[in-house]
Amino acid sequence: MKLTLKIWRQKNNKAKGELKTYPIDGIEGDMSFLEMLDVLNEELINKGEEPVVFDHDCREGICGACSLQINGEPHGPDRQVTTCQLHMRSFKNGDTIVIEPFRANAFPVIKDLVVDRTSFERIQQAGGYVSVNTSGNTIDANAIPVNKQDADDSFNAAACIGCGACVAACKNASAMLFTAAKVSQFALLPQGKVEATERVLNMVAQMDKEGFGNCTNTGACEIECPKGISLENIARMNREYLSANLKG
Ligand code: SF4
Ligand code: FES
Repeated sequence: MKLTLKIWRQKNNKAKGELKTYPIDGIEGDMSFLEMLDVLNEELINKGEEPVVFDHDCREGICGACSLQINGEPHGPDRQVTTCQLHMRSFKNGDTIVIEPFRANAFPVIKDLVVDRTSFERIQQAGGYVSVNTSGNTIDANAIPVNKQDADDSFNAAACIGCGACVAACKNASAMLFTAAKVSQFALLPQGKVEATERVLNMVAQMDKEGFGNCTNTGACEIECPKGISLENIARMNREYLSANLKG
């Protein structure tokens, strides 16, 4: 395939960025989107030009590092697929593909297509854990009964890979789906109930502090989420938040 790439280039956080055009040839349908960018970067390096900087790690859909806005959609045109697992067969010979970083005030651009998502880490650090004493008297997790529906819903919430596509898809740059997944994962299990009140209050407070927008129930986050995280988690987090406030 022969393609025209329009890629966001930005030297650093302070510089003004712009879309630059790169024609590319010899792209096969079986290549992943990131492999296609590897081919481009090899060409740029051979020509003595600066390669395009983009984020990636596992390249198998589990780490959440890859984070590209492709033709205006986080992770591109396919559903429930991360950028690293998107294949070039989803495009046609002659296509123009616009590639930008995820856009949100709480995700400042570091360089080219890489954004700083440590705001997510700070939300996680505010309560996305269970404090357990592991000094010799830990109870076997399987000894605590959990009903099947709660176990399944918790597992589904835990599938969130923290990629930030939900934020990039939202017109308000809201982080509600991410935060709700992290809250729900624990709220549904007996192990998570002990610290439930502080968890939801602290994580929501940190989310607001980071400058993410409010949720207005448009649902774009759920559609673009590569892991199928459901909006039901947001409803669950709102219930947790209300009950934590009533307790407080
Ligand atoms: S909720 Fe989905 S889109 Fe948002 S960070 Fe988690 S996996 Fe990514
Ligand atoms: S590189 Fe890990 S999810 Fe894409």
